[in-house]
Amino acid sequence: MEKIVSKEILHKKIKEHKKKGKTISLVPTMGNLHDGHIFIVKKAREESDIVIVSIFVNPIQFGKGEDYKIYPRTIDKDLDKLKNICDYVFVPKEEDVYEKSSKDINVAEDNIAKTLCGKFRKTHFKGVLKIVLKLFNICIPDFAYFGLKDYQQYFLIKKMTKEFNLNIDIKPVSIYRDKDGLATSSRNSYLDKEQRKKALKISESLNLIKDKIKSSNEKSAEKLKKIVLSKLIPNLDVQYIEAVNKTNFEKTKTVDSNTLFLISCFCDNVRLIDNLEV
Ligand code: PAF
Repeated sequence: MEKIVSKEILHKKIKEHKKKGKTISLVPTMGNLHDGHIFIVKKAREESDIVIVSIFVNPIQFGKGEDYKIYPRTIDKDLDKLKNICDYVFVPKEEDVYEKSSKDINVAEDNIAKTLCGKFRKTHFKGVLKIVLKLFNICIPDFAYFGLKDYQQYFLIKKMTKEFNLNIDIKPVSIYRDKDGLATSSRNSYLDKEQRKKALKISESLNLIKDKIKSSNEKSAEKLKKIVLSKLIPNLDVQYIEAVNKTNFEKTKTVDSNTLFLISCFCDNVRLIDNLEV
């Protein structure tokens, strides 16, 4: 594994690998790597010749008052975890990623990016799409991997890739859960013991949806959402719970095999998201 800071050097190396017919995978991350990230990297390792993991805490995807400044930066530990499972760790400097003159150019998705998480984090997906497009152009991967805990992010990146004819296969990776059921997230490290106990209600409430569908074939998204809410309130401050069709992100009234339930809530001041594919 080689750590690379310069985008030019990385790009050149990748082009040489491509000339030799090697397949390239990219796993974009913001670091503070957990088991869920490692699971994704290992999957990429199985499916391609060269694996790049990028680590960059992207300032423009954080809104005012969000946790950009305190976001855990654990680069030495991260490099250690990646030592034997990828080829390159790309750790660009902020000034190399965002040249002063380019602030006005963005990828705008004016529909789904304004719903769900985008309703509460107004500029979040604009920032995500911009960094991901930049990373794609630097790393020119054949495959790029995204965890499905951030399902809306995955959906928008896939949409951008299709819209701009990027020749990249966007690979979804199922949610990786800790033994207690909590979906792995870098932000889980903010939780103390008591908060973690409360946070477990998120996955438990999603399981209630599964149980209810199985036991009584309940199809009403509204009724299923209410079951979740009754489990979460008053322990957690729910931002949204929604049911959508995962192929187009349109709201769903009647549950079918394409239904995706998505939740965002605050556990005290820690914002957590999770989802369930029915
Ligand atoms: O999911 C993340 O960690 C980030 O949003 C990503 C895709 C690395 C872009 O900064």
